[in-house]
Amino acid sequence: MPIYCDPSELSVLEQQYQALPKQEPPLQLWQGNLSPEQLDLYSSFSDIEGPYDACGHDCRGYLGIHAEGLPEARAYFAGLLGVEQEEVLVLGNSSMEIFFQVCANALMRGVPDAAKPWPSYAHFVCPVPGYFRHFYALQYLGIRMHQIPLGKVGPNMSEVESIVQFDKRYTGIVITPLCSNPTGIDYSDAIIKRICCMKTANLDFRIFADLAYAQHHLGTPRKKQLPNMLELCRDAGVPDRPMLFFSTSKITHPQNGVAVLVSSKKNLEWFMKMQQAIKCGPPLMEQLRQVRYLRKEGIGVVMHKHATILAPKFEAVCQAFREEFTATDIASWSEPRGYFICLFLRHPVAHEAVEYAVQKGYIFADPREMYPNKDDIKNNIIRIAPSSQSAEVNYKSVKVLALCVKLASAQYQPEPKF
Ligand SMILES: Cc1ncc(COP(=O)(O)O)c(C=O)c1O
Repeated sequence: MPIYCDPSELSVLEQQYQALPKQEPPLQLWQGNLSPEQLDLYSSFSDIEGPYDACGHDCRGYLGIHAEGLPEARAYFAGLLGVEQEEVLVLGNSSMEIFFQVCANALMRGVPDAAKPWPSYAHFVCPVPGYFRHFYALQYLGIRMHQIPLGKVGPNMSEVESIVQFDKRYTGIVITPLCSNPTGIDYSDAIIKRICCMKTANLDFRIFADLAYAQHHLGTPRKKQLPNMLELCRDAGVPDRPMLFFSTSKITHPQNGVAVLVSSKKNLEWFMKMQQAIKCGPPLMEQLRQVRYLRKEGIGVVMHKHATILAPKFEAVCQAFREEFTATDIASWSEPRGYFICLFLRHPVAHEAVEYAVQKGYIFADPREMYPNKDDIKNNIIRIAPSSQSAEVNYKSVKVLALCVKLASAQYQPEPKF
């Protein structure tokens, strides 16, 4: 076995680690939750001019109308996302719930105009690293996932095309094209266009584009606008291919926001049949309140307030990384965009480093969760979620993480090559 690290260096790192006190209660840095200050932005809004919608309907009870969402909410989100009102549904509190229901409906009933349901052996293309809840939903539904590495402007499209073009088992791709979770990248317009226009062997193929962070460039240069995927797909002769998901979870209140589905009218009618079998309609009072808040304050102003709260927390993480890693070649990190910062390790020790941190009471996300079925062969990315803790806690926690990364890297021994 080759010796990889100076043994004296390793023993110093081990001593430093052993000397660290255990943090009680543990500090959570694994989830991109909103801090109390961010939550208060929306909590303090009371001026909703409700409970009546623009036509004077009382939104507090069963209305028997607006199952597709309040017209003023549909109009608002259509404007925000650059599509037509009839291409938008405004639904309940979770875009992930809609994602799950679309996939389940396609497996159960087939997509509109399909001769049969998606096959039980349906496959998805999954750019990685990605969002663990996409992967868990697909895994739960029995959909197989094929990983394609995500680069700086999207996945390697030649690889994507070579799969979906010839293999009928592929029924979808799941992407987060703006401020991607976790690496924060934006897909280039060229890649978005290729995804919309690519030939697929399975004509029931769908794009699942998660726009959770469409408003979260947070002070970094903003991508002008996501190309209109509905239009691109229409022009390519596949008008029903795109399904876009959005929610206000990271804008107002997680789990008490509103979620939006954008797609062709045909897909939306198909989806509404299922919705109406599930419930009378979405929570309209919350739609009223959310939309009147965003309209009144201006979403740009709201996002600027979030950015102002988040900026020092992200900067604390970057500062700790600069102090710990600039003089080494064992780690680099992503630009703070979206909700996370990724630490890229030279050696495949992400899981080991996070485990060390967890043992000392610093809870970072399990790196394997950024991969379908937790199948993380590279083991070299750690996701940091700076939003919910203070800048000081972030700094202190990331200093501990850095020590854990150094320790795990020093212990790493490459596989012998024969
Ligand atoms: C990529 C992505 N999609 C969706 C969500 C949240 O979705 P929901 O609208 O279900 O709260 C998150 C939250 O962390 C996310 O990171």
